[in-house]
Amino acid sequence: MIERVGVVGAGQMGSGIAHVAALAGKSVTLVDVEDAFLERGLGAIRKNMARQVEKGKLAAEARDAALGRIATTKDLGAFAGADLVVEAVVEHEPTKRELFGRLDSICRPGAILASNTSSISVTRLAAATKRPENVIGMHFMNPVPVMALVEVIRGIATSDDTAARVVASAKEMGKTPVECRDFPGFVSNRVLMPMLNEAFFAVHEGVATPDAVDTIMKLGMNHPMGPLTLADFIGLDTCLAILRVLHSGLGDDKYRPCPLLVQMVDAGWMGKKAGRGFHRYAGPGGERVAATS
Ligand SMILES: NC(=O)c1ccc[n+]([C@@H]2O[C@H](COP(=O)([O-])OP(=O)(O)OC[C@H]3O[C@@H](n4cnc5c(N)ncnc54)[C@H](O)[C@@H]3O)[C@@H](O)[C@H]2O)c1
Repeated sequence: MIERVGVVGAGQMGSGIAHVAALAGKSVTLVDVEDAFLERGLGAIRKNMARQVEKGKLAAEARDAALGRIATTKDLGAFAGADLVVEAVVEHEPTKRELFGRLDSICRPGAILASNTSSISVTRLAAATKRPENVIGMHFMNPVPVMALVEVIRGIATSDDTAARVVASAKEMGKTPVECRDFPGFVSNRVLMPMLNEAFFAVHEGVATPDAVDTIMKLGMNHPMGPLTLADFIGLDTCLAILRVLHSGLGDDKYRPCPLLVQMVDAGWMGKKAGRGFHRYAGPGGERVAATS
């Protein structure tokens, strides 16, 4: 039974994972590298829980109790007693591998080390530890409190027991876990990213404005939001990192990242979280104000 959950990275995903784990009654420790990032993550959790209370989906007492179950710290040593640690730091393999090595030395034997990676090999992350049987991919979707899916990715050495415990805890968090094998981009991003990349190329080649691309896909394909809005929500740095993993891992040029995406990331236009991507926002994480062309 998983009762104590650690989350590394208090960004868009880590804060969402802490949110759903705390609401499921888990005692949660959230770690990031700076106090400001922890405060920003906690602020997002408070705001999103307040929205759930306003909509009548959550009682104020349950919200207060869940918030009381979340502790924040910059010290990974706080994970010593955790049953499950979910890593949600940047989509950069050397950073994740180094972190998995440290988590392995800190966490008790048998504790599960999960990654929220969008595309990186779970098998390689597991190889950075001495407990590959306890390492697994637990791929939540954005925004975590709203999206039902958790893609569960077994590395080559992941044990049945680890997979069963992660599937059970995803269900406790109100999610629907679906298992798949450890291939670059798994299923979700192998299918999604080529479509987003094609939308980037359509803008890059001057086929249409970002607004027009989004509206065509929304109204024409009945998608809930356009591909460029979705890419801005995911984070353009994350989209680029995933495309690079698909390109190198599957060895097919159809996954080559659009040069416009590369240039926008170089400029720091990471999407909604930076206040600017294919669309513009009223500051980092703010509401959309107007489209770029
Ligand atoms: N954004 C999405 O839609 C989405 C969806 C599913 C999975 N993911 C994956 O989740 C992970 C995080 O993505 P995000 O969108 O939350 O990114 P983000 O940029 O919002 O947050 C990343 C956080 O990790 C922190 N961090 C970086 N290195 C760290 C370290 N060594 N120790 C502790 N904290 C560290 C950063 O300070 C930052 O707060 C990535 O692997 C990404 O691919 C993202």
